[in-house]
Amino acid sequence: MELDVCIKGRRSVRSYTDEPVSRETIEAVLEAGSWAPTAMSREPCRFIVIENKELIKFVSDETKVLVKPMFPSFARQFSSEADLICYNAPVLILVCAEKDQQRAGWNLVDSVLAAENMFLKACDLGLGTCYMGFVSFLNSKPDVLKKIGVPENYDMLVPFVLGHPKTKQGKGNRKKPNILNWIK
Ligand SMILES: Cc1cc2nc3c(=O)[nH]c(=O)nc-3n(C[C@H](O)[C@H](O)[C@H](O)COP(=O)(O)O)c2cc1C
Repeated sequence: MELDVCIKGRRSVRSYTDEPVSRETIEAVLEAGSWAPTAMSREPCRFIVIENKELIKFVSDETKVLVKPMFPSFARQFSSEADLICYNAPVLILVCAEKDQQRAGWNLVDSVLAAENMFLKACDLGLGTCYMGFVSFLNSKPDVLKKIGVPENYDMLVPFVLGHPKTKQGKGNRKKPNILNWIK
């Protein structure tokens, strides 16, 4: 796919089919993530791939309970029986990095850059992704992190879901680049 078509055509997908994503496809997506730039070429990102449906539902349920009191305006989303957190996606990927107080900021930036590469690669392969910002709050629940395979000395920095979109995605809309200053 042409780069611009991918950049502008990628959407956050919130509805997935049950079709599993092949191992080769998941590996291709992870490889795209590993090509993102990293501070001081440290390549700190480590990936956890979860394809177990019960475990993904567990993540959604734990997230709902934790964040419901924090975001009253999302009460419907967090009270629904439907999975309005991980959207029944067949794959949940956690981009993690070893805990490091001094480089925590860089680790987050590196993980986000890796994630966008993966979102674009997935889009190029006809797959959908969605950043799971609410799931990040589970970093305050060590027992939950342990259950989903995050080692004690790692931070879960970018959780996102991956799968085959159920419907065709609509067009996005963005403001024009807002240039604050252009100095020559
Ligand atoms: C840091 C971050 C956290 C996000 N968290 C969520 C989330 O928890 N659930 C969700 O459905 N979308 C989440 N999104 C997706 C945004 O809502 C989405 O990117 C935005 O509405 C623009 O839509 P688009 O990605 O389709 O262009 C998140 C995006 C970012 C960058």
